[in-house]
Amino acid sequence: MESATVPPNFNRFARKSKLMKITIERKPLDQVDTDALLVCVFEGVKEERFEAGPLFDTKEVEGKLCELTLLHHPRGVAARRVLLAGAGKREKFDPPALRKVTAAAARFLKSRSVTRLALALDDAFTGSEWVSAAVEGALLGNYDPDRYRTGNDKKSLESFSVAAAAGAGLEEAAEQGRIIAEAQNFTRELVNEPANRLTPAKVAEAARQVAGEFGLACDVLDRSQMEKLGMGALLGVAQGSDEPPALVVVRYRPRQARGRAHLGLVGKGVTFDTGGISIKPAEGMEKMKYDMAGGASMLGAMRALGQLKPSIPVTAFIPCVENMPGSRAQRPGDIVTAMSGKTIEVINTDAEGRLILADALTYARQQGCTHLVDAATLTGAITVALGHLNVGVFASDDRLRDRLLAAAQAEGERMWPMPLEEEYKEVYLKSAFADLPNVGGRWGGAITAALFLKEFAEDTPWVHLDIAGTAWLDDAKPYAAKGPSGVTVRTLVRLAMDWSD
Ligand code: BES
Ligand code: MN
Ligand code: ZN
Repeated sequence: MESATVPPNFNRFARKSKLMKITIERKPLDQVDTDALLVCVFEGVKEERFEAGPLFDTKEVEGKLCELTLLHHPRGVAARRVLLAGAGKREKFDPPALRKVTAAAARFLKSRSVTRLALALDDAFTGSEWVSAAVEGALLGNYDPDRYRTGNDKKSLESFSVAAAAGAGLEEAAEQGRIIAEAQNFTRELVNEPANRLTPAKVAEAARQVAGEFGLACDVLDRSQMEKLGMGALLGVAQGSDEPPALVVVRYRPRQARGRAHLGLVGKGVTFDTGGISIKPAEGMEKMKYDMAGGASMLGAMRALGQLKPSIPVTAFIPCVENMPGSRAQRPGDIVTAMSGKTIEVINTDAEGRLILADALTYARQQGCTHLVDAATLTGAITVALGHLNVGVFASDDRLRDRLLAAAQAEGERMWPMPLEEEYKEVYLKSAFADLPNVGGRWGGAITAALFLKEFAEDTPWVHLDIAGTAWLDDAKPYAAKGPSGVTVRTLVRLAMDWSD
């Protein structure tokens, strides 16, 4: 069996962003020494400084979100350039919009080999939320999944500062932003790893490394431990590959827990999804390296939480397998028994995510989690329903769903609630020979997948995030590279940090 020979350097972001120096500058704007001073301009609000007025008159600058205009040799400021950044409507401007603006600015400048950026932050917009969003944007925009491209000298932002006259706690806010954005970039880096380099064993190795570095505990359950626990659904998927499966568990415990809540984060970790015997078409199959994005999000969230230290215990469960059509692979028609005791008829081996998540959810419950959130690139159908713009949100508990949606909104991660009515199960999710089939019919595929998972979350309050449409950007955005998005990391971190009983 051939396994990866070059261990990926998962710590690249820890190192790299130490290189990106992040500071708060408490100097008058005209004295800020930088390559580019980022100035937000709003729709319908003419900027008269830096001789920018005429650009508004000719509509060369309109203030649309992420519109960027570089002015050279600006008069009256120490900065070498002024970068006018459209920030949209002033009354709609919020930290998520600022995050996009600094991200777009970072991308714009790095592509032009400009390496020092300073944000001129208006007094109206100084405060912790604004500063951390600005820092996050700079780090997220600076990210490119280019580690395997040799030869071209990779330009990247070296420093980012926020020039803010007033406000307390801004240094802490900048540091928080750095932690969160680095966690999200870590997730993106893992998602981008191809399946020859990132096997289930390598995910486990990455988890151990993260745990060691950030004060978390890590256990990895191997095949024989899973056999003892009766995880027949997970093991059925794993048996088609020579790569052994791993159930990665990463634990955070507060010094003094407040209340009785214990949040479980369950993430799909399929390092490659060929479909198995129900094999996928060749076209676009290379993207299926991203099928561990849910698991990578949970690991990224834990990486941040180890540093930010929420007041409740949080445990991540990441079932990792490679879905392959090997000679021992499970077949359509096979019936497996999940850890919970329920039997499942495997109608389609390509519906593997729900099988591995079923056992991970049961295990998370057994480990004492009182609330569960899972994230998974689960169905093509969620993309049919919501496109690439919104994560699909399915919940068995209104309160947990509302908390999660509030966190997502604050973080600028777009998520949309989907129905989870039992009637879909009665109509579509019937097996003649087992308790459940692993697929519903043609209709409502994202919903029947969620209802399948609900059978294993049972009565524990649970939210399922289907990120199949959002974990990967098929095209670059002004504020984000093409490739892994790192979606859900920020929302999950905020959910844990804002927890109160
Ligand atoms: N990982 C895929 C989901 C997916 C499919 C993401 C296409 C992006 C594009 C998942 O394991 C899968 O294959 N789901 C099947 C389920 C079907 C067999 C019921 C799907 O959505 O086609
Ligand atoms: Mn599949
Ligand atoms: Zn899959």
